[in-house]
Amino acid sequence: MGENDEFILQMKDIDMFFPGVKALKKAKFNLKKGEIHSLMGENGAGKSTLVKVLTGVYHKTAGQVFYDGKQIEPQSPLQSQQIGISTVYQEVNLCGNLTVAENIYIGREPRGSFGQIDWHKMNSQAKELLKNELGLDLDVDKTLSFYPVAVQQMIAIARAIDTQCKILILDEPTSSLSDRETERLFAIMRKLKAQGISIIFISHFLEQIYTICDRITILRDGEYVGEYDIPHLERLQLISKMMGKEVNENQIESNVDKSVPKDEYIVETNNVVVDGKVKDLTMNIKKGEVVGFAGLLGSGRTEIADMLFGVTPINSGEIKVDGVSVKVKEPMDQMMNRIAFCPEDRKIAGIIGDLSVRENIILALQAKDGMFKHMPMSEQKALADKYIELLRIKVSDREQLIKNLSGGNQQKVIIARWLATKPNLLILDEPTRGIDVGTKSEIEALAVRLAKEEGMSVVFISGEMGEMVRTCSRILIIRDHEKLTELNGDEISTAHIMQAIAGDYHGSN
Ligand SMILES: Nc1ncnc2c1ncn2[C@@H]1O[C@H](COP(=O)(O)OP(=O)(O)OP(=O)(O)O)[C@@H](O)[C@H]1O
Ligand SMILES: [Mg+2]
Repeated sequence: MGENDEFILQMKDIDMFFPGVKALKKAKFNLKKGEIHSLMGENGAGKSTLVKVLTGVYHKTAGQVFYDGKQIEPQSPLQSQQIGISTVYQEVNLCGNLTVAENIYIGREPRGSFGQIDWHKMNSQAKELLKNELGLDLDVDKTLSFYPVAVQQMIAIARAIDTQCKILILDEPTSSLSDRETERLFAIMRKLKAQGISIIFISHFLEQIYTICDRITILRDGEYVGEYDIPHLERLQLISKMMGKEVNENQIESNVDKSVPKDEYIVETNNVVVDGKVKDLTMNIKKGEVVGFAGLLGSGRTEIADMLFGVTPINSGEIKVDGVSVKVKEPMDQMMNRIAFCPEDRKIAGIIGDLSVRENIILALQAKDGMFKHMPMSEQKALADKYIELLRIKVSDREQLIKNLSGGNQQKVIIARWLATKPNLLILDEPTRGIDVGTKSEIEALAVRLAKEEGMSVVFISGEMGEMVRTCSRILIIRDHEKLTELNGDEISTAHIMQAIAGDYHGSN
């Protein structure tokens, strides 16, 4: 029996063991009716695993689950959905080749009087749902893969909120959403909460946690640390509890030396045009600087990165690397020019799930050196170990399959892969999305250190202004696929970036 009416869910003494990994150790979790509850912990702490135990994706090794007054044995995601537990998983798990409407109604399609699927009704319902709840006007007859990841994420959310549920689980739903989309999601969450629905919200954005959540449960290394009312837990305390050590303000605010390096360029572009993607871009990247691209989602930040790396060839203009004009037809050309690109969309673009962490780390280096020049195993191992330590990648050992790592740790492996190529220019597109606060400041600090100490140039693209301010010594402001202006050194502040994006601040150039 559930012992307390106040709770819709109680999970007790949950163990979840994978071969060689104890992902959860006597973990517990108490969810009240009608509350928004955050599950916090570093990458690999066990948050997604706890959720998957609840929804029957994984079968727990030990422990009890009480739901709505009764003990349950979660069997499968479908069954958990049927009893009122609706989930948006960290990995978007919809079908790219089905239409948007099919994805929303799969398994519960509206039917006509003869039991046949009522396509017309399905499409119009889907369209309305997306419009009314999320303010999205989509062609629901297009395949899902037609839309960018952020939109796919919204579609997954639409699907989850459309089913009658008592618990809604959102595992990092906002990591690819813009501020406006996040606001909409929050409005929906508040509405559902008012209807008495309980929400489990997982996110690494502290701001969001403090804005939307009532309570918080902290996990560390698969163990329960405690549960707290949000107003009674200060941010620093929260971080200390997640990391298991005392932290002070300075550790979180990694500080950059704002002095701008001298005018030697690793990359220059002159009047570069990529049809529909980059408008007449003239800019440069200096040796040993961390330069940021700031702009709203869809402003063209990523398109410029794609152009620099040769993902999209240019239609006119000139790209110079190290002072020499280069022809760039494909990424391999730029890899040979010692440029590396860690793209935004790591789920799609980078991870080969069935390879080990070691193999994933040496992949880009291997591709660059040619598949025939085999790297000795001892060297591979040393390299993998070096980056596992440098980026604090949580693995049982270097031969673990990458698909079994937590989301945030997978991202770190991809960053390691590109660092291993020892590039002269490293382009990082949203490198800290989905990465916990502790590691996040380490990655920020790493970017700064690589630039200062090893003379590497880093392009840092992030939607988070604070992060740009902490890492960059120069920021290019991108809007409508062109460079509006740039901010240098001491001019860089969150306020100035925002004003510059709005067109109200023009910087010193
Ligand atoms: N299928 C699996 N096989 C083996 N180990 C796994 C598997 N799934 C998760 N793990 C391990 O369990 C631990 C917890 O992972 P989990 O995905 O729950 O972390 P998380 O808290 O969600 O992290 P993140 O913030 O990065 O998403 C990690 O050490 C991970 O490597
Ligand atoms: Mg996770």
